Amino acid sequence: MPNWWKQGIVYQIYPRSFQDSSGDGIGDLPGIQERLDYLKWLGVDAIWISPMYPSPMADFGYDVADYTDVDPRFGTLEDAQRLIDAAHDYGLRVILDYVVNHSSNEHPWFLESRSSRDHPRRDWYFWKDPAPDGGPPTNWIDRFGGNSAWEWDEQTEQYYLHSYLPEQPDLNWGNPEVQEAMLNVLRFWMDRGVDGFRVDVAYRAKVAPQWRDNPPNTDWHEGMDPYKRLQETYTKNLPDAHLVGRLLRDVVDEYDDRVLIGEVTLQPERLVAYYGENNDEYHLPFNFNLIHSDWTAEAVRDQVDRYEQVLRSPRLSGEEWPNYVLGNHDVHRLASRIGPEQARVAQLLLLTLRGTPTLYYADELGMPNVDIPEEMVQDPWEINAPGLGLGRDPARTPMRWDDTEKVGFCPPDVEPWLPSGPEEAPTVSQQKDDAGSMLSLVRRLIELRRSSPALHSGSYQSLMAPEGVFAYERTGGGDAFIVFLNMTDKEQRCPLPPHVSKGSIALSTHLNRNDERVELNVDLAPNEGVLIAVDGA
Ligand code: GLC
Repeated sequence: MPNWWKQGIVYQIYPRSFQDSSGDGIGDLPGIQERLDYLKWLGVDAIWISPMYPSPMADFGYDVADYTDVDPRFGTLEDAQRLIDAAHDYGLRVILDYVVNHSSNEHPWFLESRSSRDHPRRDWYFWKDPAPDGGPPTNWIDRFGGNSAWEWDEQTEQYYLHSYLPEQPDLNWGNPEVQEAMLNVLRFWMDRGVDGFRVDVAYRAKVAPQWRDNPPNTDWHEGMDPYKRLQETYTKNLPDAHLVGRLLRDVVDEYDDRVLIGEVTLQPERLVAYYGENNDEYHLPFNFNLIHSDWTAEAVRDQVDRYEQVLRSPRLSGEEWPNYVLGNHDVHRLASRIGPEQARVAQLLLLTLRGTPTLYYADELGMPNVDIPEEMVQDPWEINAPGLGLGRDPARTPMRWDDTEKVGFCPPDVEPWLPSGPEEAPTVSQQKDDAGSMLSLVRRLIELRRSSPALHSGSYQSLMAPEGVFAYERTGGGDAFIVFLNMTDKEQRCPLPPHVSKGSIALSTHLNRNDERVELNVDLAPNEGVLIAVDGA
């Protein structure tokens, strides 16, 4: 029997922005629970919830002050339990974010660690003496602004390492007590019914780093992300990360049917190492390569074919399951990156490729970036490296449920923590009953994917296609589909492959082509994608 997460579709919820039930302008867990109906209606299988743990919110929850509780802004531990149980009643799985590399500087572990050089928890984090010149031990820089990754502690006269903000000290996974405490966090949540974890920056976890300077990046120039000034030779994608991956997987395997997803931003050749040498690390190392690809048929096809080819490499077991992500809380909105018309084509792609799709909340509406006025900027990255387009607030704005003043996200007299966007931005209520809407398109695609063995589990083969069109075939379980994606703004005539003579259109990103018969060729409008059910497959 295939695992649920192979056939399933993951939906990412940024809890601050999904639904506010308490009236403070910040989303919360009971709010998510209120909206389970919608998720069920949409047809997704699992929700992944970005961190909802107690946090000073220096990085909006990715600075965790207690891994086994819920921040009061998001609710209580009881609310979490109610949400997990309610989701299960709806047949939805629940995946939590697990911040592996760092805690908050307000976590009791760190407060104790920093309290004195002799504290038994000193070694839970990375403390170092200054370099001989009195400066930081290495030239490493932090991710949100490119400042030193070492923070000086006046009281104990040592530096501590923080790969992200100074408020996010790196945990020392080389310490067996850290391992035990952190692994027990997984058990704590799985005992409460959680179905899996998305492991934050999985490829940065450190066990025994070499304290050596990173070499400069000679391609760096002003105007680029300051963090990119250095190469990351000694700070990420080290063997340590695999060791930690195996530790996590062992614990996840103590329980039935759970999933371990790793956040790993790498090209396919290096990414697949995170399945583990014996398929004993991440079930799904996140594949972000379509997010970073140029949006042309040729570039996207190359990415998909290359990934498929790497997955067939004899070095792998053959069991490794692909996955694709097109948006998340760290990058600009899909519809703003590639435009609203191609966003429809992109959803057709995401939901018909071989491998688990992850959908980012509100992308099913074609939600664009929301402009954030300077005085409302929240994201520390934008604050530390302003004006470079790195800020993540524009893609983290409230879910737009209806056309009331605060779009159904929070009470009308309350200001949401980020603006909910201009009046013309999409809402669920506008789109729900509009057959031509993005939401209807995504929902129909999910329905087709769920009901078709070829689409949820079949094989993938790319096909010859005119320039600017990406075409592929999905086959399996007595079912076959051909997908044509016109990634240009010109009309295109696409030949069916020689082994297929006829079919009918199961879905088009444009309206009113359902059940249209196709023989030999299919004509595509500009920016149109079609899914063709092959006759007699
Ligand atoms: C991951 C998260 C991002 C966070 C960072 C530090 O990349 O997705 O939102 O800021 O890790 O935890």
